[in-house]
Amino acid sequence: MAEHVVDTGRRKMLTVSTSVVGAVGTAVAIWPFISTMNPSARALAAGAPVEVDVSKLEPGQKIQVEWRRLPVWIVRRSEEMISSLSDTDARVRDPNSEIATMQPAFAQNQIRAIKPEILVLVGICTHLGCSPTFRPEIAPEDLGPDWRGGFYCPCHGSRFDLAGRVYKNNPAINNLEVPPYKYLSENVLVIGELPEEEGAA
Ligand code: FES
Repeated sequence: MAEHVVDTGRRKMLTVSTSVVGAVGTAVAIWPFISTMNPSARALAAGAPVEVDVSKLEPGQKIQVEWRRLPVWIVRRSEEMISSLSDTDARVRDPNSEIATMQPAFAQNQIRAIKPEILVLVGICTHLGCSPTFRPEIAPEDLGPDWRGGFYCPCHGSRFDLAGRVYKNNPAINNLEVPPYKYLSENVLVIGELPEEEGAA
């Protein structure tokens, strides 16, 4: 049973939803996390894998789940978002994620994901641990004409593209972490376990 926070840019909604991700966007509820701390929730907090159904996640939409007390973001990238990674290749510090160590082997490339359209990241800035904001817009006024969508950390201004790759000459020097995850079926992934070919999490 996972809680999802939906974030489409600056707009955030906290939803209490389990398998029905489709409820996001309609059912809006502010619900203290503690209210769902039943035994299974405590197990999740202790580090149990978290299953997430992404079938209703729309292109450009981001949800957040909690795994090992960490915020984990799941973004469905549109075709345009995926192609923007070729535009940012030359401007990010580690374009193929070869320097980054906080990731499974499947993330050592441009897209940093098992399926190109589904991006999974730990939502913590690799500089000093702030929470970056999801900024999918193209060239918003405050981020400039070269902004192709990504994540912006308000603490010291680090910028990450739509694969969580940090731009050159930023306070952060590492790409955002990709947590271990795998797919149980076409639309259900589990955070906290690696695909068989990569061994146990
Ligand atoms: S904590 Fe994100 S830029 Fe410093």
